Amino acid sequence: MTPDEGRKARKNLRLKSVLDNVAHQGPQTVHFDIANACNTRCTTCWDHSPFLNADRVPTAAWKRRTLPLDSFRATLDDLVALGGLEQIILSGMGEPFLNQAIYDMVAYAHQHGVGVTIITNLLLADLPRLLASDGELNLLTSICGVTQPVWQAFHAHPKPRGWEQLIAQLTLLDEHAFRPKHVQVINNQNFHELVDMVHFARRFPVKRINFKFASLKNGTEAVALSPDQKRELRHDLVPRAMAFAHAFKIDTDLDAFCAQIDPDTDSTAPIADVGCFMGLLYSRLTVQGEVLYCCNTQVQVGELDGPGSFRSLWEGPAWQGRRDSVRAGRYFDGCEQCGKFKQNWKWSQKLRETLPPEQFDGLLGRGPA
Ligand SMILES: C[S@@+](CC[C@H](N)C(=O)[O-])C[C@H]1O[C@@H](n2cnc3c(N)ncnc32)[C@H](O)[C@@H]1O
Ligand code: SF4
Ligand code: SF4
Repeated sequence: MTPDEGRKARKNLRLKSVLDNVAHQGPQTVHFDIANACNTRCTTCWDHSPFLNADRVPTAAWKRRTLPLDSFRATLDDLVALGGLEQIILSGMGEPFLNQAIYDMVAYAHQHGVGVTIITNLLLADLPRLLASDGELNLLTSICGVTQPVWQAFHAHPKPRGWEQLIAQLTLLDEHAFRPKHVQVINNQNFHELVDMVHFARRFPVKRINFKFASLKNGTEAVALSPDQKRELRHDLVPRAMAFAHAFKIDTDLDAFCAQIDPDTDSTAPIADVGCFMGLLYSRLTVQGEVLYCCNTQVQVGELDGPGSFRSLWEGPAWQGRRDSVRAGRYFDGCEQCGKFKQNWKWSQKLRETLPPEQFDGLLGRGPA
Protein backbone atom coordinates (compact mmCIF):
# COMPACT_ATOMS: atom_id res chain seq x y z
CA MET A 1 0.00 0.00 0.00
CA THR A 2 1.39 3.47 -0.86
CA PRO A 3 1.36 6.16 1.87
CA ASP A 4 -1.57 7.86 0.09
CA GLU A 5 -3.55 4.63 -0.05
CA GLY A 6 -2.78 4.07 3.65
CA ARG A 7 -4.08 7.55 4.52
CA LYS A 8 -7.24 7.01 2.51
CA ALA A 9 -7.89 3.60 4.14
CA ARG A 10 -7.45 5.12 7.61
CA LYS A 11 -9.80 7.99 6.72
CA ASN A 12 -12.52 5.57 5.55
CA LEU A 13 -12.18 3.47 8.70
CA ARG A 14 -12.36 6.60 10.85
CA LEU A 15 -15.65 7.63 9.30
CA LYS A 16 -17.00 4.09 9.65
CA SER A 17 -15.95 4.05 13.32
CA VAL A 18 -17.75 7.35 13.96
CA LEU A 19 -20.92 6.17 12.21
CA ASP A 20 -20.96 2.73 13.88
CA ASN A 21 -19.73 4.05 17.25
CA VAL A 22 -17.26 1.16 17.28
CA ALA A 23 -13.47 1.58 17.01
CA HIS A 24 -12.45 -0.23 13.81
CA GLN A 25 -8.84 0.93 14.26
CA GLY A 26 -6.69 2.64 16.89
CA PRO A 27 -6.94 6.38 17.66
CA GLN A 28 -5.90 8.90 15.02
CA THR A 29 -4.33 11.19 17.64
CA VAL A 30 -2.79 10.38 20.99
CA HIS A 31 -1.84 13.11 23.42
CA PHE A 32 1.14 12.33 25.66
CA ASP A 33 1.62 14.38 28.79
CA ILE A 34 5.37 14.32 29.29
CA ALA A 35 5.96 16.78 32.17
CA ASN A 36 3.93 17.95 35.15
CA ALA A 37 6.08 20.94 36.18
CA CYS A 38 5.97 24.36 34.56
CA ASN A 39 8.31 27.35 34.25
CA THR A 40 5.39 29.79 34.39
CA ARG A 41 2.03 30.19 36.15
CA CYS A 42 -0.77 31.14 33.78
CA THR A 43 -3.75 32.47 35.70
CA THR A 44 -6.13 30.13 33.83
CA CYS A 45 -4.00 27.01 34.31
CA TRP A 46 -5.65 23.96 35.84
CA ASP A 47 -2.44 22.92 37.64
CA HIS A 48 -0.22 25.99 38.03
CA SER A 49 -2.47 29.03 38.43
CA PRO A 50 -1.75 31.23 41.45
CA PHE A 51 -5.56 31.33 41.89
CA LEU A 52 -5.97 27.56 42.51
CA ASN A 53 -7.79 26.67 45.71
CA ALA A 54 -5.33 25.43 48.34
CA ASP A 55 -6.64 21.85 48.14
CA ARG A 56 -6.04 21.84 44.35
CA VAL A 57 -2.39 22.86 44.39
CA PRO A 58 -0.38 19.83 43.18
CA THR A 59 2.33 18.31 45.39
CA ALA A 60 6.04 18.85 44.69
CA ALA A 61 6.42 15.07 44.10
CA TRP A 62 3.72 15.14 41.39
CA LYS A 63 5.31 18.19 39.76
CA ARG A 64 8.70 16.48 39.52
CA ARG A 65 7.36 13.64 37.38
CA THR A 66 8.24 13.34 33.70
CA LEU A 67 7.54 10.59 31.17
CA PRO A 68 10.65 8.43 30.60
CA LEU A 69 11.79 7.95 26.99
CA ASP A 70 11.57 4.13 27.26
CA SER A 71 7.91 4.23 28.34
CA PHE A 72 7.13 6.64 25.51
CA ARG A 73 8.79 4.36 22.93
CA ALA A 74 7.01 1.24 24.21
CA THR A 75 3.58 2.94 24.04
CA LEU A 76 4.26 4.39 20.60
CA ASP A 77 5.24 0.92 19.34
CA ASP A 78 1.89 -0.43 20.65
CA LEU A 79 -0.06 2.37 19.02
CA VAL A 80 1.64 1.91 15.67
CA ALA A 81 0.91 -1.84 15.82
CA LEU A 82 -2.76 -1.11 16.60
CA GLY A 83 -3.10 0.97 13.40
CA GLY A 84 -4.87 4.25 12.69
CA LEU A 85 -2.32 6.54 14.37
CA GLU A 86 -1.47 9.66 12.35
CA GLN A 87 -0.18 12.11 14.90
CA ILE A 88 0.84 12.46 18.49
CA ILE A 89 0.60 15.50 20.69
CA LEU A 90 3.42 16.16 23.15
CA SER A 91 2.19 18.37 25.94
CA GLY A 92 1.79 18.19 29.68
CA MET A 93 -0.12 19.24 32.67
CA GLY A 94 3.04 21.37 32.74
CA GLU A 95 5.54 22.45 30.08
CA PRO A 96 6.75 19.65 27.74
CA PHE A 97 10.17 21.26 27.17
CA LEU A 98 10.97 20.61 30.82
CA ASN A 99 11.40 16.98 29.72
CA GLN A 100 14.80 16.81 27.99
CA ALA A 101 13.77 13.58 26.23
CA ILE A 102 11.34 15.55 24.06
CA TYR A 103 13.81 15.84 21.16
CA ASP A 104 14.33 12.06 21.07
CA MET A 105 10.57 11.51 21.33
CA VAL A 106 10.00 13.73 18.29
CA ALA A 107 12.70 11.88 16.34
CA TYR A 108 11.24 8.46 17.32
CA ALA A 109 7.73 9.43 16.19
CA HIS A 110 9.11 10.78 12.92
CA GLN A 111 11.07 7.56 12.33
CA HIS A 112 7.69 5.76 12.51
CA GLY A 113 6.07 8.17 10.03
CA VAL A 114 3.93 9.74 12.77
CA GLY A 115 3.40 13.52 12.80
CA VAL A 116 4.07 15.52 15.97
CA THR A 117 2.26 18.49 17.47
CA ILE A 118 3.82 20.14 20.51
CA ILE A 119 1.72 22.33 22.80
CA THR A 120 4.13 24.68 24.51
CA ASN A 121 4.74 28.11 26.00
CA LEU A 122 7.89 28.04 23.77
CA LEU A 123 10.15 29.77 26.29
CA LEU A 124 12.50 26.83 26.90
CA ALA A 125 12.54 25.15 23.48
CA ASP A 126 15.89 24.54 21.76
CA LEU A 127 14.41 25.44 18.39
CA PRO A 128 17.35 24.67 16.06
CA ARG A 129 17.59 21.18 17.61
CA LEU A 130 13.84 20.64 17.37
CA LEU A 131 13.53 21.81 13.79
CA ALA A 132 16.36 19.50 12.72
CA SER A 133 14.09 16.42 13.02
CA ASP A 134 12.86 15.24 9.64
CA GLY A 135 9.07 14.80 9.77
CA GLU A 136 5.75 16.59 10.19
CA LEU A 137 5.91 19.08 13.06
CA ASN A 138 3.32 21.54 14.36
CA LEU A 139 3.87 23.93 17.21
CA LEU A 140 0.86 25.16 19.14
CA THR A 141 2.47 28.05 20.93
CA SER A 142 0.53 29.51 23.85
CA ILE A 143 0.68 33.32 23.60
CA CYS A 144 -2.38 34.59 25.56
CA GLY A 145 -1.56 38.29 25.47
CA VAL A 146 0.23 40.41 22.87
CA THR A 147 1.66 43.25 24.92
CA GLN A 148 4.22 42.89 27.68
CA PRO A 149 1.96 43.93 30.60
CA VAL A 150 -0.96 41.72 29.54
CA TRP A 151 1.31 38.73 28.79
CA GLN A 152 3.02 39.23 32.16
CA ALA A 153 -0.29 39.46 34.04
CA PHE A 154 -1.66 36.34 32.31
CA HIS A 155 1.49 34.28 32.88
CA ALA A 156 2.40 35.53 36.35
CA HIS A 157 5.84 34.62 34.99
CA PRO A 158 8.25 34.33 37.89
CA LYS A 159 11.38 35.43 35.99
CA PRO A 160 12.19 38.80 34.40
CA ARG A 161 12.34 39.11 30.60
CA GLY A 162 9.81 36.33 29.89
CA TRP A 163 8.09 38.46 27.24
CA GLU A 164 11.41 39.29 25.55
CA GLN A 165 12.24 35.57 25.57
CA LEU A 166 8.94 34.78 23.83
CA ILE A 167 9.54 37.44 21.18
CA ALA A 168 13.07 36.11 20.59
CA GLN A 169 11.71 32.57 20.12
CA LEU A 170 8.98 33.72 17.72
CA THR A 171 11.60 35.68 15.77
CA LEU A 172 13.78 32.59 15.54
CA LEU A 173 10.86 30.54 14.18
CA ASP A 174 10.23 33.23 11.59
CA GLU A 175 13.91 33.23 10.57
CA HIS A 176 13.61 29.45 10.02
CA ALA A 177 10.46 30.13 7.91
CA PHE A 178 8.54 27.92 10.35
CA ARG A 179 4.88 28.87 10.84
CA PRO A 180 3.53 27.92 14.28
CA LYS A 181 -0.08 28.10 15.37
CA HIS A 182 -0.75 30.73 18.01
CA VAL A 183 -3.00 29.69 20.90
CA GLN A 184 -4.81 32.57 22.56
CA VAL A 185 -6.63 31.48 25.70
CA ILE A 186 -9.12 34.23 26.45
CA ASN A 187 -9.93 35.45 29.96
CA ASN A 188 -10.78 38.77 31.62
CA GLN A 189 -7.14 39.90 31.52
CA ASN A 190 -6.61 39.70 27.77
CA PHE A 191 -10.01 39.65 25.99
CA HIS A 192 -9.66 43.33 25.01
CA GLU A 193 -6.58 42.40 22.93
CA LEU A 194 -8.56 40.08 20.64
CA VAL A 195 -8.13 42.27 17.53
CA ASP A 196 -4.46 42.92 18.40
CA MET A 197 -3.97 39.15 18.58
CA VAL A 198 -4.77 39.03 14.87
CA HIS A 199 -2.35 41.95 14.24
CA PHE A 200 0.30 40.01 16.16
CA ALA A 201 -0.02 37.20 13.62
CA ARG A 202 0.97 39.64 10.89
CA ARG A 203 4.15 40.48 12.79
CA PHE A 204 4.86 36.76 13.45
CA PRO A 205 3.20 34.84 10.62
CA VAL A 206 1.20 31.75 11.58
CA LYS A 207 -0.46 28.70 10.10
CA ARG A 208 -3.53 29.68 12.09
CA ILE A 209 -4.65 31.32 15.34
CA ASN A 210 -6.59 29.09 17.72
CA PHE A 211 -8.74 31.04 20.14
CA LYS A 212 -9.75 29.13 23.27
CA PHE A 213 -12.40 30.33 25.63
CA ALA A 214 -10.78 29.64 29.04
CA SER A 215 -12.50 26.81 30.87
CA LEU A 216 -12.15 27.67 34.51
CA LYS A 217 -12.54 25.74 37.77
CA ASN A 218 -11.09 25.18 41.24
CA GLY A 219 -10.39 28.87 41.94
CA THR A 220 -9.37 30.04 38.45
CA GLU A 221 -12.89 31.42 37.98
CA ALA A 222 -11.22 34.55 39.44
CA VAL A 223 -10.22 35.47 35.87
CA ALA A 224 -13.55 34.64 34.19
CA LEU A 225 -15.22 37.11 31.85
CA SER A 226 -18.30 38.89 33.19
CA PRO A 227 -21.55 38.64 31.17
CA ASP A 228 -20.97 42.21 29.90
CA GLN A 229 -17.43 41.37 28.81
CA LYS A 230 -18.75 38.28 26.99
CA ARG A 231 -21.28 40.46 25.18
CA GLU A 232 -18.54 42.91 24.17
CA LEU A 233 -16.46 39.99 22.93
CA ARG A 234 -19.28 38.48 20.93
CA HIS A 235 -20.84 41.59 19.44
CA ASP A 236 -17.84 43.87 18.97
CA LEU A 237 -14.41 42.25 19.33
CA VAL A 238 -15.03 38.95 17.50
CA PRO A 239 -16.63 40.57 14.41
CA ARG A 240 -13.80 43.10 14.20
CA ALA A 241 -11.15 40.41 14.65
CA MET A 242 -12.88 38.27 12.00
CA ALA A 243 -13.01 41.14 9.51
CA PHE A 244 -9.35 41.88 10.05
CA ALA A 245 -8.34 38.21 9.75
CA HIS A 246 -10.36 37.95 6.54
CA ALA A 247 -8.79 41.11 5.07
CA PHE A 248 -5.28 39.86 5.74
CA LYS A 249 -5.99 36.19 4.94
CA ILE A 250 -5.08 34.99 8.42
CA ASP A 251 -6.65 31.63 9.26
CA THR A 252 -8.46 31.55 12.61
CA ASP A 253 -11.13 29.47 14.32
CA LEU A 254 -13.13 32.51 15.44
CA ASP A 255 -16.38 31.01 14.08
CA ALA A 256 -16.15 28.00 16.43
CA PHE A 257 -14.84 30.25 19.23
CA CYS A 258 -17.93 32.42 18.88
CA ALA A 259 -20.14 29.35 19.43
CA GLN A 260 -18.49 28.98 22.86
CA ILE A 261 -19.48 32.42 24.16
CA ASP A 262 -22.69 32.33 26.15
CA PRO A 263 -23.23 35.38 28.41
CA ASP A 264 -25.88 33.48 30.40
CA THR A 265 -23.85 30.43 31.55
CA ASP A 266 -20.34 29.34 32.56
CA SER A 267 -20.54 26.56 29.97
CA THR A 268 -17.99 26.95 27.17
CA ALA A 269 -19.29 24.08 25.04
CA PRO A 270 -22.87 23.50 23.88
CA ILE A 271 -21.87 19.85 23.45
CA ALA A 272 -25.40 18.36 23.46
CA ASP A 273 -26.09 20.25 20.20
CA VAL A 274 -22.75 19.34 18.67
CA GLY A 275 -22.06 15.75 19.77
CA CYS A 276 -18.80 14.10 20.82
CA PHE A 277 -16.77 11.81 18.56
CA MET A 278 -13.45 11.85 20.41
CA GLY A 279 -13.86 8.38 21.99
CA LEU A 280 -13.27 6.89 18.53
CA LEU A 281 -10.42 9.14 17.44
CA TYR A 282 -8.34 10.33 20.35
CA SER A 283 -6.88 9.48 23.73
CA ARG A 284 -4.71 11.21 26.30
CA LEU A 285 -2.06 9.52 28.44
CA THR A 286 -0.81 11.13 31.62
CA VAL A 287 2.77 11.10 32.90
CA GLN A 288 1.64 8.53 35.50
CA GLY A 289 0.36 6.16 32.77
CA GLU A 290 -3.35 6.86 33.29
CA VAL A 291 -5.35 6.39 30.08
CA LEU A 292 -7.99 9.08 29.61
CA TYR A 293 -11.05 8.86 27.36
CA CYS A 294 -10.29 12.35 26.08
CA CYS A 295 -8.70 15.55 27.37
CA ASN A 296 -11.10 15.51 30.36
CA THR A 297 -9.01 14.37 33.33
CA GLN A 298 -12.20 13.28 35.10
CA VAL A 299 -12.87 10.51 32.55
CA GLN A 300 -10.23 7.84 33.08
CA VAL A 301 -10.53 4.48 31.30
CA GLY A 302 -7.66 2.57 32.92
CA GLU A 303 -3.88 2.47 33.26
CA LEU A 304 -1.02 1.37 31.01
CA ASP A 305 0.31 -1.88 32.34
CA GLY A 306 2.86 -3.36 29.94
CA PRO A 307 2.82 -4.29 26.25
CA GLY A 308 -0.61 -4.50 24.62
CA SER A 309 -2.39 -2.79 27.50
CA PHE A 310 -3.49 0.21 25.43
CA ARG A 311 -5.11 -2.10 22.86
CA SER A 312 -7.00 -4.06 25.54
CA LEU A 313 -8.39 -0.84 26.97
CA TRP A 314 -9.22 0.71 23.56
CA GLU A 315 -11.08 -2.44 22.45
CA GLY A 316 -12.44 -3.29 25.91
CA PRO A 317 -15.82 -2.81 27.61
CA ALA A 318 -14.91 0.21 29.76
CA TRP A 319 -14.04 2.37 26.73
CA GLN A 320 -17.01 1.08 24.71
CA GLY A 321 -19.36 1.75 27.65
CA ARG A 322 -18.29 5.40 27.68
CA ARG A 323 -18.69 5.65 23.89
CA ASP A 324 -22.22 4.23 24.22
CA SER A 325 -23.05 6.66 27.01
CA VAL A 326 -21.93 9.69 24.98
CA ARG A 327 -23.75 8.43 21.86
CA ALA A 328 -26.93 8.23 23.93
CA GLY A 329 -26.46 11.90 24.91
CA ARG A 330 -25.29 11.11 28.46
CA TYR A 331 -22.19 13.22 29.07
CA PHE A 332 -19.70 13.39 31.94
CA ASP A 333 -18.77 15.99 34.52
CA GLY A 334 -16.60 18.54 32.71
CA CYS A 335 -18.11 17.98 29.24
CA GLU A 336 -19.84 21.38 29.51
CA GLN A 337 -16.30 22.84 29.25
CA CYS A 338 -15.08 20.33 26.65
CA GLY A 339 -11.42 20.91 25.73
CA LYS A 340 -11.95 19.16 22.36
CA PHE A 341 -14.99 21.29 21.50
CA LYS A 342 -13.45 22.66 18.31
CA GLN A 343 -12.58 19.18 17.02
CA ASN A 344 -16.09 17.93 17.87
CA TRP A 345 -17.60 21.02 16.24
CA LYS A 346 -15.71 20.37 12.99
CA TRP A 347 -16.80 16.72 12.86
CA SER A 348 -20.34 17.74 13.69
CA GLN A 349 -20.47 20.33 10.88
CA LYS A 350 -19.18 17.78 8.40
CA LEU A 351 -21.63 15.06 9.47
CA ARG A 352 -24.56 17.48 9.60
CA GLU A 353 -23.84 18.48 5.99
CA THR A 354 -23.52 14.92 4.68
CA LEU A 355 -26.07 12.81 6.62
CA PRO A 356 -29.87 12.80 6.51
CA PRO A 357 -31.18 14.83 9.50
CA GLU A 358 -32.60 11.81 11.36
CA GLN A 359 -29.29 9.93 11.09
CA PHE A 360 -27.37 13.00 12.31
CA ASP A 361 -29.78 13.39 15.25
CA GLY A 362 -29.10 9.76 16.14
CA LEU A 363 -25.39 10.56 16.54
CA LEU A 364 -26.40 13.13 19.17
CA GLY A 365 -28.61 10.72 21.13
CA ARG A 366 -31.80 12.32 19.82
CA GLY A 367 -33.40 9.42 18.00
CA PRO A 368 -32.42 6.42 15.91
CA ALA A 369 -28.71 6.31 14.94
C1 LIG B 1 -2.06 23.13 30.16
S1 LIG B 1 -1.21 23.71 28.76
C2 LIG B 1 0.20 22.63 28.70
C3 LIG B 1 1.18 22.89 27.60
C4 LIG B 1 2.01 24.14 27.71
N1 LIG B 1 2.49 24.38 29.01
C5 LIG B 1 1.27 25.35 27.18
O1 LIG B 1 0.80 26.16 27.96
O2 LIG B 1 1.16 25.46 25.96
C6 LIG B 1 -2.18 23.10 27.42
C7 LIG B 1 -2.99 24.16 26.70
O3 LIG B 1 -4.02 24.61 27.54
C8 LIG B 1 -4.17 26.02 27.37
N2 LIG B 1 -4.88 26.51 28.55
C9 LIG B 1 -4.37 26.96 29.70
N3 LIG B 1 -5.38 27.26 30.56
C10 LIG B 1 -6.55 27.00 29.91
C11 LIG B 1 -7.92 27.11 30.24
N4 LIG B 1 -8.30 27.48 31.45
N5 LIG B 1 -8.85 26.79 29.32
C12 LIG B 1 -8.47 26.36 28.09
N6 LIG B 1 -7.18 26.20 27.73
C13 LIG B 1 -6.23 26.53 28.62
C14 LIG B 1 -2.74 26.46 27.17
O4 LIG B 1 -2.65 27.73 26.57
C15 LIG B 1 -2.22 25.38 26.27
O5 LIG B 1 -2.53 25.67 24.92
S1 SF4 C 1 2.48 27.38 30.34
FE1 SF4 C 1 0.95 25.74 30.18
S2 SF4 C 1 1.26 24.39 31.93
FE2 SF4 C 1 2.42 26.28 32.28
S3 SF4 C 1 1.11 27.50 33.55
FE3 SF4 C 1 0.72 28.09 31.42
S4 SF4 C 1 -0.96 26.76 30.72
FE4 SF4 C 1 -0.15 25.90 32.62
S1 SF4 D 1 -14.94 16.39 27.56
FE1 SF4 D 1 -16.81 15.23 27.16
S2 SF4 D 1 -17.59 16.08 25.29
FE2 SF4 D 1 -15.43 16.68 25.41
S3 SF4 D 1 -14.28 15.11 24.32
FE3 SF4 D 1 -14.39 14.50 26.45
S4 SF4 D 1 -16.18 13.15 26.60
FE4 SF4 D 1 -16.34 14.32 24.72
